[in-house]
Amino acid sequence: MNARIRTPHLAVLLEPDWAAEALVTDVRRGLGTVPRSLPPKWLYDERGSQLFDRITRLPEYYPTEAERSILAERADAVAALSGARTLVELGSGTSDKTRLLLDALTGAGQLDRFVPVDVSAEILTEAAEQIAQRYPGVGVDAVVGDFTLHLSHLTRYPNKLVAFLGGTLGNLYLEERAAFLGALSDALSPGDHLLLGTDLVKEADRLISAYDDSAGVTEEFVKNALLVLNAQLGGDFDPDAFGYVPFWDSRMRRMDLRLRAEVPQRVRLPGADLELDLAAGEEIRIEISTKFTPDQIAAELGSVDLGVVEQWTDPAGDFALTLARRH
Ligand code: SAH
Ligand code: AVI
Repeated sequence: MNARIRTPHLAVLLEPDWAAEALVTDVRRGLGTVPRSLPPKWLYDERGSQLFDRITRLPEYYPTEAERSILAERADAVAALSGARTLVELGSGTSDKTRLLLDALTGAGQLDRFVPVDVSAEILTEAAEQIAQRYPGVGVDAVVGDFTLHLSHLTRYPNKLVAFLGGTLGNLYLEERAAFLGALSDALSPGDHLLLGTDLVKEADRLISAYDDSAGVTEEFVKNALLVLNAQLGGDFDPDAFGYVPFWDSRMRRMDLRLRAEVPQRVRLPGADLELDLAAGEEIRIEISTKFTPDQIAAELGSVDLGVVEQWTDPAGDFALTLARRH
């Protein structure tokens, strides 16, 4: 019997004026106070998603290939240990590595549904269409949503495996991470699984070169946040008036990616009713990328009722993939 190709279903959980409203709140709170910062989800408009895709192919940026190598080896085990019938993916982007999981789950004949969730509607719909074509027996429910707000949407899916790959957990601040993990655990039923990809603590040199690549793509990606603010809020940031300052914060165990005003400047953001007076040398933190140890991951998951089933790393020990089960 030929399997029917199903068109992906698209659920849009973000209100049409979400960018306008939530961005204004985040900008007023984050940029209007010192130290200045922005939540990283605003990096991913269409251009930002494309720049991230280029980052994943840079020679210095090891996490993508490290995680792919673990998935290539362990996807069958993940399928067998989870027994999942629904695969949810948070911050799915292109869902490129996820095809290894989709191959394993469909190969085992157990997958009914794939639910990619991302704030970036363009990249999400493109990926969902490609996946629906490639896996004709699998229903695809693409969700344009914010994984810090919309996890309760997932409670409708039984027997699920939630994949959160790439190390994106590390982009959340400490308080956000704790709230996110608690909400994620609440959205899981006992016996559901989480597959979490996390980058591991390592020598500062390698981390710095992964976030300060010689082609300058990461700098462009980070500066894209200013262009998003210009486009959404009618702002007049000049990205060339900022230097890129990536550094390793060994106390917080995180990369800290900042932009530093090269000269004193006044920036207007009429859409947020905000004017910023930046002194020369003043910095805006655009993104953090926290690095973990395997024990720390197990402890943080344990504190929200997620018990580690297996933890795998790549041969170099750069990246970890943790499979956990909701008690
Ligand atoms: N999982 C992919 C992509 C990682 S890039 C990989 O492993 O390569 C991070 C992705 O998370 C982007 O596609 C971005 O749009 C999405 N994202 C960031 N913050 C988000 C949020 N709060 N809610 C939903 N998606 C988010
Ligand atoms: C998506 N996230 C896991 C990337 C990271 O490595 O923290 C985002 C990124 N920022 C700069 N380079 C890559």
